[in-house]
Formats: sequence, structure tokens, C-alpha cells
Amino acid sequence: MDLKLSGKIAVVTGASKGIGLAITRALVAEGVHVVAGARTVPPELAGVRVVQGDLTSPEGPAQLIDAAIAEFGGLDILVNNVGGVTPRTGGFLSVTDDDWLTALTINFLAAVRTTRAAVPHLLERGAGSIVTIASVNATLPDPLVIDYSAAKAALLSFCKSLSKELGPQGIRVNTISPGPVSTGLWLGDAGVAATVGQAKGLDPDAVAKQAAGDAVTGRFTQPAEVADLVLLLAGGRAANVTGTDILIDGGMTPTL
Ligand SMILES: NC(=O)c1ccc[n+]([C@@H]2O[C@H](COP(=O)([O-])OP(=O)(O)OC[C@H]3O[C@@H](n4cnc5c(N)ncnc54)[C@H](OP(=O)(O)O)[C@@H]3O)[C@@H](O)[C@H]2O)c1
Repeated sequence: MDLKLSGKIAVVTGASKGIGLAITRALVAEGVHVVAGARTVPPELAGVRVVQGDLTSPEGPAQLIDAAIAEFGGLDILVNNVGGVTPRTGGFLSVTDDDWLTALTINFLAAVRTTRAAVPHLLERGAGSIVTIASVNATLPDPLVIDYSAAKAALLSFCKSLSKELGPQGIRVNTISPGPVSTGLWLGDAGVAATVGQAKGLDPDAVAKQAAGDAVTGRFTQPAEVADLVLLLAGGRAANVTGTDILIDGGMTPTL
């Protein structure tokens, strides 16, 4: 199937690992010119234009978009992927103002700022697609990730509002909400499984196995499976899809 992506120009945030790396690879494989934003440059990104910078800084997002425009002269697709989570194993009262600001900045404000920098260029094209990676926690709030859940819920609200403003001008805005995905965020040394395991005296593998069991498919989602949804939403095949959220959680969400 031609996804109508070839020759397009895209920016992907948080592109050096995990889901962002899978999205970058998938877009490149479809013939998209990708500008990737992250703090580090892994060997897997050889041949891709990487802009190193801190996307939680006020100026980081605009610098990334400016670099894409300088390199390729325009922008068609923005993928807001950067995010991070720290399980609050000490409960709500242990979560400080700094913790809240950190979570809201990386999971919400970074996307707002990147989108603000990108939209004028998408408007110039008269068409475009913004895809933002949220989380099942946007609609399944969890005290263990109380700040992350609130930030992801805010992302869904922001993207829905924006879809209404930009739809008449040809720009589509959608979100993808994954359940647990096999990346460092969940399975790394400082990931959710390790942190929760340490707090509960459990092996990280046992924590991950329990999370996998919450999905009716009994497993984590693979980063490439999230990337495939991005390809669909970013490309011209989904030209009348906007203001929506697509779940990819192996059936974990119990509600309609
Ligand atoms: N994994 C899951 O289970 C899951 C589930 C639902 C939603 N999500 C969402 O999916 C997105 C990607 O998650 P992931 O699992 O792929 O996470 P990950 O493996 O931890 O990767 C995060 C990416 O963001 C970059 N990054 C982190 N802080 C940054 C900063 N301050 N400035 C610039 N780049 C930064 C990292 O690169 P550097 O370290 O090189 O900067 C890395 O490329 C996030 O929004 C997350 O909330 C993940």
C-alpha cells in the first residue's frame, strides 16, 4: 500500500531510542526526510539528520524545527514523541513541585512548544499531519504515575482542541495511546519494571510479566507496531482522520 509519504519532510522528537527510533526508521523506509531530535546520537541514526538538544528547555523545540527548515526548506509531518516517566512509589504526598514540573515539561510542554514552532511551517504548506504519542494512562489514570497520567491527559485535550483550529486549514492532529511498549522506559535499568520491582521487592521481570498479563494479548507492544500507526496517521491515506486517539494496548483498556 502506498502510504503517500515519499518525499515528505518530518520532525520526530525523542528519536534516539525506543518508540521514537522505530518511528524514525519507519519514516525513512517510506522515503521521508527525517530530522530527529534527542540529547544523544546513537549509531542507529547514521545517515539521519540529528539535532542534539534538550527538548525540555524553552528554546530546544524551536531549535529543532528551525534546523529542519534550514535543512529541507519546509515541514509536512511532526511527531511529538518525547516523554518520560518516574513511578511515584512513595505515593502522591511524595511528589514535589519539581517532580510535577519535570513530568509536565517533558510529557506536555515539550509537545506544545514543538507544535507552536512547527505550525507556521505546516500552514505555509497548506497541509500537514501532527501525530503525538500519548499513553493509555491519559484515560487510565494511575496513582503510580499520577503526574505522567495528568500530563498525558493534557496532551489528549490539547491535540483535540488544536485539531479543531487547524482542520479547516488542512492540518490534521491525532494522538496514539500505547499500553506498555518494549523500550527502556519500561524495561531499562531505571525503567518502570526495575523501579517498581525495587519498591515492592519483586524481580523486574515479574513486574513486566504482570503488566504484559494486563493485555488480553498477554504481551507488550513492539516499538515498530506503534511506528506503523504513525505511518498511517502521518500519510495521505488517513486524509480525513483528525482529532482522534488511537489505542494500541493489546486490549488492556477494558472500556469502550
Ligand atoms: N514505553 C512505553 O511503555 C510507553 C507507553 C505509552 C506511551 N509511551 C510514550 O512513548 C514516548 C516514547 O517512549 P519510549 O518508551 O520510546 O521512551 P525511551 O525509550 O525512554 O526513549 C525516550 C526518547 O526521548 C529522548 N529524550 C528524553 N529526554 C529528552 C530530552 N530532555 N530532550 C530530548 N530528548 C529526550 C531520549 O533520547 P536521549 O536520552 O538521547 O535524549 C529517547 O530518544 C513517550 O512519550 C512515552 O511517554 C511509552
